[in-house]
Amino acid sequence: MVDGGRLWNRLSELAKIGKHEEGGVARLSFTTEERAAKDLVASYMQEAGLAVREDAAGNLFGRREGTEPEAPAILIGSHVDSVLNGGDFDGPLGVLGGIEVLQTMDEEGVASERPVEVVAFTDEEGARFSLGMIGSRALTGTLSQEDLLHEDRDGVSIAGAMRNAGLEPARVGEAVRPADTLAAYLELHIEQGKVLEGEDLPVGVVTGIAGPVWLRLSFAGEAGHAGTTPMGTRHDALAAAAEVVSVIEEEASVTGSTVGTVGQIGAGPGGINIIPGRAGISLDLRDIDEAVRDQVEGRIRERAAEACERRGIDLEFEELQRLPPAPCSEEIRAAITAASEGEGIRSYPLPSGAGHDGMHVAELCPMGMIFVRSRDGISHNPKEWSSREDCEAGCKVLYLTVLDLAKQG
Ligand code: GLV
Ligand code: MN
Ligand code: MN
Repeated sequence: MVDGGRLWNRLSELAKIGKHEEGGVARLSFTTEERAAKDLVASYMQEAGLAVREDAAGNLFGRREGTEPEAPAILIGSHVDSVLNGGDFDGPLGVLGGIEVLQTMDEEGVASERPVEVVAFTDEEGARFSLGMIGSRALTGTLSQEDLLHEDRDGVSIAGAMRNAGLEPARVGEAVRPADTLAAYLELHIEQGKVLEGEDLPVGVVTGIAGPVWLRLSFAGEAGHAGTTPMGTRHDALAAAAEVVSVIEEEASVTGSTVGTVGQIGAGPGGINIIPGRAGISLDLRDIDEAVRDQVEGRIRERAAEACERRGIDLEFEELQRLPPAPCSEEIRAAITAASEGEGIRSYPLPSGAGHDGMHVAELCPMGMIFVRSRDGISHNPKEWSSREDCEAGCKVLYLTVLDLAKQG
């Protein structure tokens, strides 16, 4: 049942694409690196005997027919794009684990009633355009033409990047998947936290996915001479942003479940002897409880506005995305629990702090996720690591879950 060596070799091969000398990977969406990763994955899908196709959003699918071809399919997915200087497992484990499941079914001559498909979604991470899960949004029909205006650091929009990659943004609606063609969505992913390690368990059953809000805060003050403007008379946009960064850290620390991160900061005009007249920061705020997250956001907005008023700074908030938390399906959780126990693994339920494409696919069909233990809980970092044995254990649980949900014919 599943070839852990083959899965590990494919993970290692895929990790070479976009690898930096310092050890991290960078495979941003619609780049040559992401294209090369999808081409390699397509070749693995072919080795697994799957019918391969790409949709209008660049999502890459491999399909194995069931004995009832008209039955709704089981979809297994994840992504092959990465953050800047990311690790080898976030995304690739789910895609390659899905292919491994389908290849094993083929080799063992397993006939399932339902078709089973594996998908590598386009741009889950949002690392390039500050809008993630582009491919899964397209699948559900919630990727709007306005969304396609999001720009990267060089001012290239999603629509422009799609065109450069040979895709037609006006046709993105063709990627919409009718809900009645899907029976369930499953994703195998590294935990990216320390819970399973603490429990000494290789695999866990995800209960739900925390909902993120991504904002951009723009501060407008007044540029001035660093040598001649007295401290009490300044309108320093960067100093205001710095105060707000502290407010965010403080407010996000209050509830115990909320997490708040400022990952991007910029200031202008950018001279050593000029008071910054403008500044900008990003905010990533998440909680598994939407009401708690929104309360924290409200306090941050209030205190940021108060700080800026005191400092004579204009503050603007731009909302980049807002998603509710997504609970996993009870039925799929039960199937994963049974599969784990079938493998002799104590089943352990835990929520996901990270976002995943399942948040969107859940609009079409029941969704479930299997987590694999991460070393030291480190992720979005070149040190991200899960052992070969744990990846194999997660893949076996995925295999048994798929057999259950796709029904052996
Ligand atoms: C992606 O990994 C995210 O959770 O932002
Ligand atoms: Mn991921
Ligand atoms: Mn990620």
